Amino acid sequence: MLTITSTKEMTTLSKQARREGRRVGLVPTMGALHAGHISLVRAARAKVDVVVASVFVNPTQFGPNEDFAKYPRSFENDAAMLSAEKTDCLFCPSVDEMYPAGSTAWVEVEGISGKLDGRSRPGHFRGVTTVVAKLFNIVEPDLAFFGQKDAAQAAVIRKMVRDLNFDVAIVVCPIVREPDGLAMSSRNAYLSLEERKQATVLSRSLERVQTLAAQGECDAARLAAAGKQVMSEEPAVRLDYFEVVSADTLDPVADISQGALVAVAACVGSTRLIDNVVFEPR
Ligand code: PAJ
Repeated sequence: MLTITSTKEMTTLSKQARREGRRVGLVPTMGALHAGHISLVRAARAKVDVVVASVFVNPTQFGPNEDFAKYPRSFENDAAMLSAEKTDCLFCPSVDEMYPAGSTAWVEVEGISGKLDGRSRPGHFRGVTTVVAKLFNIVEPDLAFFGQKDAAQAAVIRKMVRDLNFDVAIVVCPIVREPDGLAMSSRNAYLSLEERKQATVLSRSLERVQTLAAQGECDAARLAAAGKQVMSEEPAVRLDYFEVVSADTLDPVADISQGALVAVAACVGSTRLIDNVVFEPR
């Protein structure tokens, strides 16, 4: 596995691979890798010739009172995990390399960036779309792999690619969970033992929605009420949102018969967690 820290070198390598007729896949991450990230690397390995994984804790997507400084960093372990998956290239630029002094350009997808997590975390998706657009320009991937775990992020990136004519296919991979249902997340490392138990309420609330939907319930308000009821049974967990929306626009839908994204966000102690389930059109 090649480790590259220079944006120029990354572009040269990627252009060379494409000239030789090899397809390049990009898996963007912020490191502290777990099985969810690795599932994206495996999906990429199965589809492209050259797998590039990026590890970059992107400062511009963290709010001033968020966890940029304490975000888990485990570079040695990340590199070993990526190497074991036969990743061809680890791209891990410094903050100065990605954002040279004086950088003032932003990529903002208006409207959708203010929905779901974007509503609770102002500026978050502007930071995400800016860094992902930069990664697309640096790596020029044929395919880029994202997780369904961050459903709003996937919707914002798909819209950015459409609106700005990026020549990259976006592949969204299923959520990888712990045995008890908790969606894997680098932030799960923040949870105390007690909070770790409480955190399963997010996936339990979605399971309740899935059960009702399987019984034929299509009404978004009734499904959301049932999910919120489960969330309220864990009083230590503070609900941010529980929404039934279109997976493309993130706008609310009245019923799930045409397909829907049911998404939840909540704080367990000081840790903000998200989870979701997608319903296909009936
Ligand atoms: P990060 O949180 O490290 O996640 C990197 C990728 O892994 C994202 O596409 C995310 O959706 C996916 N992922 C995380 N947990 C997952 C799980 N349990 N199952 C499946 N996929 C999972 O998302 C980011 O970083 C950043 O915003 C980034 C896109 C890298 C831009 O900085």
